[in-house]
Order: sequence, then structure tokens, then C-alpha cells
Amino acid sequence: MSDVLKGNQTINWYPGHMTKARRMMEEDIKLIDLLIELVDARIPLSSRNPDIDKLARNKSRLILVNKCDLADEKITKEWLAYFKQQGFYAVMVNSKSGEGVKTINNVVKEACKEKIERDRKKGIKNRPVRAMVAGIPNVGKSTFINSYAKRACTKTGNKPGVTKGKQWIKLSNTLELLDTPGILWPKFEDANVGRRLAFIGSINDNIINMTELSLELLQFLKKEYPGVLNARYGIEEKDDMVGMLREIAANRKFLMKGNELNLDKAAMTLFDEFRSGKIGRITLERLPDES
Ligand code: G4P
Repeated sequence: MSDVLKGNQTINWYPGHMTKARRMMEEDIKLIDLLIELVDARIPLSSRNPDIDKLARNKSRLILVNKCDLADEKITKEWLAYFKQQGFYAVMVNSKSGEGVKTINNVVKEACKEKIERDRKKGIKNRPVRAMVAGIPNVGKSTFINSYAKRACTKTGNKPGVTKGKQWIKLSNTLELLDTPGILWPKFEDANVGRRLAFIGSINDNIINMTELSLELLQFLKKEYPGVLNARYGIEEKDDMVGMLREIAANRKFLMKGNELNLDKAAMTLFDEFRSGKIGRITLERLPDES
């Protein structure tokens, strides 16, 4: 990561907020049976915090591969199979449009069955299953909670319910969702993880040399998605990344005083259009090697 950080900048993750969020998450997790973890479909592993497995041991687990509208569908399906193989329930969703959100009801029921069965063995009956949503910042937690609550409540005719202390959204007679999500920070010590997080905009752009980083995005797109850059920007896909960036600037007429090409603007445009899906449905992270 240090190669694209500006000057001697460090990534400021506000350690105070992180510690507080972590402590809240540890408290909240004690109250729930099912953890719904959101990951970003474009970087399904890099957008996880591996500590979650320790924090959520003994809980039923559902991974939602969110923002699936922005990712390569074929690879998203491979990731779903990967997570399932690891013992998680996994579903792909687009929380923004609501696509896939309804279908998780059945999976939630299935995941909760285990809990209900455990309760039954302990002699506990008719206790609603409680769930919470967790994930790294910007992964879509609030969007998902709103979307899920709206859909589930419309279906069951229930209104969000309030109990003392914590606020729970009553999704059905058997399921309640904590209305505040748990926040975990990604682990970006690995330069590749940091880079992927920067590509999708999860690291403050102001501390990153976006023009440098754009050359890496161009390289990735050229190699993994040949043709998309040509289709979007009408440029020749070649080994000279700066040359490609220059062509983007020229084709879009991004000029500075004296008619010099504005490469910074071309880089930001590339990121904006990549992040909003205009370049296409692109996944940045492949499944880890079997070996
Ligand atoms: P958080 O609570 O985990 O921090 O994330 P939040 O819900 O605030 O979502 C972060 C951004 O991701 C929002 O965009 C939201 O609209 C977008 N988002 C969430 N889920 C999806 C999805 O499945 N697909 C797509 N394409 N986007 C999604 P924003 O730019 O911050 O806001 P807005 O422009 O949408 O209003």
C-alpha cells in the first residue's frame, strides 16, 4: 500500500472509534443467535475482517455477498460456493435494488433451524431468533437493514418493534434484527488487500495517490477484462499504462492550462466509473488457490 500513499501519510482509521465499535460488537454479539455478515462482491475476502470468526463462534452464520450488481456474476457464484464449502450459509444480494433480499428469508429460516433445535434440546421454546448485521464500513449494512426490514415487514404485516435497551426490528414472529449493525475494520496490512479496498473506495481517496493507483487498475482491467477499456474509452489496450491514461484524458478532453492533459482528472474519472459499475461488472478478487 505504501507505494500509493501520498508522502508520509498513514491510513487513519481512528483507533478510538475502532476500539469502541469493536467493544459494542462484542457486547451485541452476546445477544444474538445469527450473524449476518456483509461482504463486497467485488472483493469478498478483502472486505472481511477475519476476527469475525472468533467473535462469532457458536453463532449461526450467514454471509451476504452484497453489491452483486457491480460484480462479475460468474465469479460471485464461485465465491458463494467457496463460502458454503467453508460452512457458511451464503447468498448474493443487491441491497440497493432489493434484488435477492427476499430470497434470504428461507436461508435465514434454515440457518435458524439449528438454533431452534439447540434451544429445544435445552428446553427453551418459542423464543424468537435474534440476528445482527455486521461488516466493514461502506459495505452496505444500513442499506441492507432498511431493505430487509421493509420487505420482511411488508410481508408479515409487522411494524418495527422497540424493546427496552437495544432496538430490535421485528421481521416476523420468529425473527428479530438488531437495528444497529456491527462495524469491523478490514485488515489491510497485506498490500494487495489495501489496494483492492482503495480500488472500491473504502480507503479515503485524499491520502492515496489516485493517479498512481489508476495505473494499477488499468493494468488489472486490461489483463482480466480485455476489451472493457476499449469499449468505454475508445482507447488502445497496450502495455503502456501511462499511455492509456493519457488517451483517456485526450478522448475525454481533460485538459489543463496550456492544453496539457489532465491525468489526475482521467484517473478520478476511471475510479468513479469503475466504482459505479459504468465500466462493467468487475470482480477484483479471485478465489484463493486450492494448494
Ligand atoms: P454501511 O452502512 O455498511 O456503511 O454502508 P451503506 O449502507 O451506507 O452503503 C454504502 C454505499 O453503498 C451507499 O452508497 C449505498 O447506496 C451503496 N450500496 C449498498 N448496497 C449496495 C448494492 O447492493 N449495490 C450497489 N450498487 N450499491 C450499494 P452511497 O454512494 O454512499 O450513497 P447513495 O449514492 O446510494 O445514496
